Amino acid sequence: MSTLPVSYPADGTPALYPNERVAKRVGDYAESHSLRMPQHIIDYHAHIQTTRPETANYMISIAQAQALTFLVKTIGAKRILEIGSYVGLSLMTWSSAVGPDGKVTGLEFDPSFAAAAKDALAANDVHNAELIVGDALETLPTLTPSEPYDIIFIDAQKSGYSRYLSTILALSQPGTPNRLLRPGGLIIGDNTLRCGLVADDSSDNPWRHYDFGPQRPEYWKSADVMTLKAYNQAVVANDRLENWLCPLWDGINLARMVD
Ligand SMILES: C[S@@+](CC[C@H](N)C(=O)[O-])C[C@H]1O[C@@H](n2cnc3c(N)ncnc32)[C@H](O)[C@@H]1O
Repeated sequence: MSTLPVSYPADGTPALYPNERVAKRVGDYAESHSLRMPQHIIDYHAHIQTTRPETANYMISIAQAQALTFLVKTIGAKRILEIGSYVGLSLMTWSSAVGPDGKVTGLEFDPSFAAAAKDALAANDVHNAELIVGDALETLPTLTPSEPYDIIFIDAQKSGYSRYLSTILALSQPGTPNRLLRPGGLIIGDNTLRCGLVADDSSDNPWRHYDFGPQRPEYWKSADVMTLKAYNQAVVANDRLENWLCPLWDGINLARMVD
């Protein structure tokens, strides 16, 4: 067994475990000692990892699905909007968490991903989820829900996060009919630490040197990372929001709408 370096984090840092091996075992243990996800969701996650290896990492992990399910049930959420659905794994997670009397809406602009998501919903007898196909920058402002959403999950293109946030805030003014998000509802921004680059783009961060592919040279300086910084700043500075930027997974920014 090779020896991995051991680091002792200062108080308050999220580096809870002495090395990657221990962190992996602790993660596995936590997953197996948390609420069990329905088998069709575990199976679909594994199926996508096998059949779409290039894009499977778009999906939330099963551990993150457990956390989101716990959150939905804790706040009694029944109506959820998701921006960025890929092939439907997180949509199925929300659907199962809200139960048959809940309703989930996904926004996805890629027709082939949307078709795969719709097939998966049908194949798994999911009847409380719908998908709106189109650019969410255009479809989001057209939504006029009869009841406001309890949760809005932002997981589409990172460069759009700030616009999604300002649209949600503008369309959820107190006292307005058909507001998007209810008072006390959550805006959940996924990937808001983006490989840690949002908080640390110094050369200390090995992800800065990672090759994200020909379309994404010098990713650490990209519009994605810049917009996520702007997004996190806009959330924490807004008096209408109270948030917790949770440093788990790729960073998940949980913001509660106060009014
Ligand atoms: C990270 S993936 C979503 C993963 C999904 N939430 C899950 O956990 O299974 C992001 C998705 O957002 C979609 N997307 C990107 N830009 C979009 C836009 N402007 N409007 C709608 N969907 C968009 C992409 O096609 C992709 O499927």
